[in-house]
Amino acid sequence: MEDKSRFFSELISALSLMMDLDENRKLFHAWRVAILAERLAQKILPEYRTQIFYAGLLHDIGAISLPEHVVHYTDIKEHFTNQILFKHPEKSAHIVRQISPLFIAADMIMDHHEQWDGSGYPRGLAGNNINLGGQILRIADTFDILARVKPPLSLNGMKTSLAARRGTEFSDLIYELMVTTLEEGDFFNEIMDEKAVADKIFTIINGLPSIDLNSCRTDTEEIIMVFAKVIDAKHSYTAGHSERVAEYTYMLAKALGLPEAEAQRLKVAGYLHDAGKVAVPRYILDKPGPLTIDEFKLMKRHPVYTMEILSMVNSLKDLVVISGGHHERYDGAGYPDGLSGEAIPFGARIMAVADAYDAMTSRRPYQKQRNSIETKEVIEKNSGSQFDPRVAKVAIKVLP
Ligand SMILES: [Fe+2]
Ligand SMILES: [Fe+2]
Ligand SMILES: [Fe+2]
Ligand SMILES: [Fe+2]
Repeated sequence: MEDKSRFFSELISALSLMMDLDENRKLFHAWRVAILAERLAQKILPEYRTQIFYAGLLHDIGAISLPEHVVHYTDIKEHFTNQILFKHPEKSAHIVRQISPLFIAADMIMDHHEQWDGSGYPRGLAGNNINLGGQILRIADTFDILARVKPPLSLNGMKTSLAARRGTEFSDLIYELMVTTLEEGDFFNEIMDEKAVADKIFTIINGLPSIDLNSCRTDTEEIIMVFAKVIDAKHSYTAGHSERVAEYTYMLAKALGLPEAEAQRLKVAGYLHDAGKVAVPRYILDKPGPLTIDEFKLMKRHPVYTMEILSMVNSLKDLVVISGGHHERYDGAGYPDGLSGEAIPFGARIMAVADAYDAMTSRRPYQKQRNSIETKEVIEKNSGSQFDPRVAKVAIKVLP
């Protein structure tokens, strides 16, 4: 991939936005925290601007499996009693640490719920024992929560609300830094306005000093694999699903005679095919019984979200229709577009078989787990209806 770091920042931004989808409304929580934290860091941590920007985007990634979005819990007591909530700073930091160039961001994330007076979590650190980046994230996170109060706060109202937390939640210094920043030009109004937030995020990405990904061992596949794990974590039953679909897609592509480079591209499409699931409520993904019509409607949106995510990333644009087409059926009865036959991109037809094969051979709440022989029988039976016969034939031969 040509510009690794651009790819990296676009992918992270796209995924963090999707994590913030709530009942089909984009919350922009991660984006607003990232923009604000980066702006604050310009003054006191300029050398870590890029790290804190990513920390802002990813700070709540460990809370992805929460049934409701983490930003809804404003009461700190709730954070101590809800185990997923209590552990999310650690979990987020653990995920981010797997992308080795972001280890500084990971340390910041670890401390983003610590409070100046020691009443925060997970470690109950106090004062300057708290990572400075973590302190910046704390106030940015709180700002975003206060920015959702209805009717919206004025600048003065915001200052008063923040002032009530100085000395307990954050230090005087951090508070003063926030106030000075909010008073700069029109910054307060810009950051309050969700549309302006969306415009700003890509301007920042373009202007930030990039993280040197070329000199470190992390390659794009590694980054994608981390995200594949995050996508699968949304769901209780899908550990390893994205990775296996990627692997099966690659195997089928090779067996169908596609060139190595193209098979590798399809593998990437496989890792990310269910990215849109991060935007589907977990109670639907994990529902043990059949879905209601409305629930199924939401479930069927996930390939659309996948397409939305991938189209935000320049270097993944060629994969949009492939990843987004994994639930299309050869006979036209699939979703989201009801395409049929050759109108479905070949890559998507391959992935449809890979995806179904893994779904059937894995434990899922709504169906019995099949072994390889039973699964291949189902694939054979549905060849020409659900599946492209050419792909089905190869799958029966080469899948494990
Ligand atoms: Fe958080
Ligand atoms: Fe947050
Ligand atoms: Fe899917
Ligand atoms: Fe899938």
